[in-house]
Amino acid sequence: VGEWTRVESLGAALENKTVLIRGRAQTIRPVGKKMAFLVIREHGYTVQCLVQAQPDTVSPQMVKFAAALNRESIVDVEGAVSIPAAPIKGATQQVEIQVRKLYCISRAVPTLPINLEDAARSEVEIEKALQAGEQLVRVNQDTRLNFRVLDVRTPANQGIFRVQSHVANAFRQFLLSEGFCEIHTPKLIAGSSEGGASVFRLDYKGQPACLAQSPQLHKQMSICGDFGRVFEIGPVFRAEDSYTHRHLCEFTGLDVEMEIKKHYFEVMDVVDRLFVAMFDSLNQHCKKDLEAVGSQYPFEPLKYLRNTLRLTYEEGIQMLKDVGVEIEPFGDLNTEAERKLGQLVLEKYGTEFYILHRYPLAVRPFYTMPCYDNPSYSNSFDVFIRGEEIISGAQRVHVPEFLEQRAAACGIDVKTISTYIDSFRYGAPPHGGFGVGLERVVMLFCGLNNIRKTSLFPRDPLRIAP
Ligand code: 4AD
Repeated sequence: VGEWTRVESLGAALENKTVLIRGRAQTIRPVGKKMAFLVIREHGYTVQCLVQAQPDTVSPQMVKFAAALNRESIVDVEGAVSIPAAPIKGATQQVEIQVRKLYCISRAVPTLPINLEDAARSEVEIEKALQAGEQLVRVNQDTRLNFRVLDVRTPANQGIFRVQSHVANAFRQFLLSEGFCEIHTPKLIAGSSEGGASVFRLDYKGQPACLAQSPQLHKQMSICGDFGRVFEIGPVFRAEDSYTHRHLCEFTGLDVEMEIKKHYFEVMDVVDRLFVAMFDSLNQHCKKDLEAVGSQYPFEPLKYLRNTLRLTYEEGIQMLKDVGVEIEPFGDLNTEAERKLGQLVLEKYGTEFYILHRYPLAVRPFYTMPCYDNPSYSNSFDVFIRGEEIISGAQRVHVPEFLEQRAAACGIDVKTISTYIDSFRYGAPPHGGFGVGLERVVMLFCGLNNIRKTSLFPRDPLRIAP
């Protein structure tokens, strides 16, 4: 066995050299009995390989073996690199391999449950193909998710999850560079962390417990533990019965918590710099992946400003009022109003990324700090991409007696969070933070229409497998 070459690095510089590659048999095309073309794919890069009967080197049996390979099987191919006379369609690398040896390392079943070519087509391509009378099956979302290990092999899906990886990495790198400490909080907890009914309850060795709806309480307790600035990337569980394009029962939370000196604006400053840096980095380093996503699911690049726009909730509802949308002054925005406001903000300020702050206290969780000048409002904010929420954040109540009062007023059984409240009795600095939904960021940055596309193995009210 010689040295392995990656398909990605196959190019004219290797002409006449013998290479050994491993990949999947993406397509297999026999031409008569003496020849077969294979396209071998290794993680998104493809090369055409020619298996042609030759006296002494390639037997007719080997051609037959190649022609009988099943798509998506893993194969090792050894052969000489040549430069074809005409450009090769349907392969990323513009060289060909004249195959001498071929081994099947892992056989795929003869008929795959999803046709990957069909699964990779855009709506426009599908329409065109159907009009041209082509036989094809539109691969629906459920089928895709049932056979997710196949579905994620398409270029767009590979792109989506590489973008997702980049988002989490950009989040981590930025915060580490600003002196934040990465923490890991428990996911098995005694009481609900966000209130409300959307909690997965379980039995913890005879004690009632639940899956954490967020790291909220423990990230705040870490601030009481004197870490100053913390962040976490981890699973978040919500037992909500939301059958929407943007709710999952398990998602990945990107959470931040930090001491502040005076004002929750210090937290919004972090959001601002973090996300501008993240979007810049995505546009700079993920071009190929974003193109792969866009070629199946076309989208416009996100419009965002160098200094993120901040509007107060009151300003926001005024903008809505001005176009005839009435909002309860101390209520919350529904999905439709959020979308509408997103449109108005884009028209007026030219951005699809903005912060709405100073929400009515009544619509925020118990731990949110009321505004000092008007307790009907709160030191809190939401952040939107293309008119949909990706972040909620706030300054927190750090005075234990007041926290107790707020929890009780919000109908929370204070006993279940007594260790959390006690944490504030030993000196607790003013602090605030925010939580981001990773899948939502990727969905909205890429202009996708469903969060299930940006969750590798999504969990929703109807799905817990694969
Ligand atoms: O708005 P949420 O519930 O806020 C919290 O969890 C707070 N503890 C955050 C904080 O630090 N104050 O969730 C935060 C974000 C949302 O903006 C959204 O992006 C995402 O998490 N999210 C969901 N993503 C997918 N499916 C769901 N069911 C989600 N619920 C919230």
